[in-house]
Amino acid sequence: MTTRYETVKADLEANPKTWLVTGVAGFIGSNLLETLLNLGQRVIGLDNFATGHQHNLDEVQSSVSSDNWLGFTFINGDIRNMEDCRQAVKGVDYVLHQAALGSVPRSLEDPITTNQANIDGFLNMLVAAKDEAVSSFTYAASSSTYGDHPGLPKVEDVIGKPLSPYAVTKYVNELYADVFARAYDFQTIGLRYFNVFGKRQDPDGAYAAVIPKWTAAMIKGEDVHINGDGETSRDFCYIENVVQMNLLAATTEGEARNQVYNVAVGDRTTLNMLFDALQSALASNQVTYSKKPRYRDFRAGDVRHSQADITKANTLLGYNPNFEIYEGISEAMTWYVKNIL
Ligand SMILES: NC(=O)c1ccc[n+]([C@@H]2O[C@H](COP(=O)([O-])OP(=O)(O)OC[C@H]3O[C@@H](n4cnc5c(N)ncnc54)[C@H](O)[C@@H]3O)[C@@H](O)[C@H]2O)c1
Repeated sequence: MTTRYETVKADLEANPKTWLVTGVAGFIGSNLLETLLNLGQRVIGLDNFATGHQHNLDEVQSSVSSDNWLGFTFINGDIRNMEDCRQAVKGVDYVLHQAALGSVPRSLEDPITTNQANIDGFLNMLVAAKDEAVSSFTYAASSSTYGDHPGLPKVEDVIGKPLSPYAVTKYVNELYADVFARAYDFQTIGLRYFNVFGKRQDPDGAYAAVIPKWTAAMIKGEDVHINGDGETSRDFCYIENVVQMNLLAATTEGEARNQVYNVAVGDRTTLNMLFDALQSALASNQVTYSKKPRYRDFRAGDVRHSQADITKANTLLGYNPNFEIYEGISEAMTWYVKNIL
């Protein structure tokens, strides 16, 4: 049976559109760019390299055909600057807004800078997209919006109190998106990503996410630190599932719009299980890591367990995650070994 994702991709190939990907030099943005260019789309990318890298764009360039690369226009700009947003959104059909400062610890250390990118920048993009009357506006929300609500699995309309400034910013995005639908009839879709991982996710820096950070440490033979007892769990989601969800969301019509959706697999993996999985995936790539993990204090602002209910995304958008965690880890490890060793 043909899936909606296959139909969407075939339609896009037959009838290319113009996309704006903000945060295009980052992890998720550069993966969106790669898929869109491979489908022969026209893509405008906006980034200020706050956490993104030119080498991510270079890698996309080397992985797509030179003809498809001609479909890409890069704007070195900042979503905190309204003029950059207006320039970027000109003539665009679909917006995939990914630019933001991620990381809970970063937001605890510097809430003001996080707020400026994630709320001021978001609002700029929303206004620019509305004024340009784009066909759709899909944005990166976050599972951090579930905050202190203990229920599992997480269902979209039951949330708790935010546990970090980052979580506040992502929830405020949803509030703005919702009010824009009511006040201006400007429909959007929010994607609550759960821990996304895959190629080009940055392993460096104080705010690196757990999978690239541990992978890099293992490849270099360094210690791996587990915050807490290792029984903290997450619904780790491979990047290809996130790309699928963005394309499904951008191209949907009717009641599936003006909604937020969980983007995950619907599984729960503890940090202890993750450690073992990374170790054995690296072993399959001839990298031996024999150290034991080092346990330290729980990290402030972290939720204890996270697992998504993906029924809504499946029912309204036809989302079917093609990659479960171990498959994703296997693909990601091959990339990390090639790029870090
Ligand atoms: N990776 C995850 O697990 C995850 C989970 C939940 C939500 N998200 C959200 O997904 C989006 C993409 O995250 P990512 O993991 O690819 O992070 P990333 O840091 O790799 O990418 C973010 C990109 O946004 C750019 N950016 C930041 N501030 C900007 C500004 N003011 N103007 C223009 N560009 C700016 C950065 O330079 C970077 O290229 C973010 O909105 C993030 O909050 C990610």
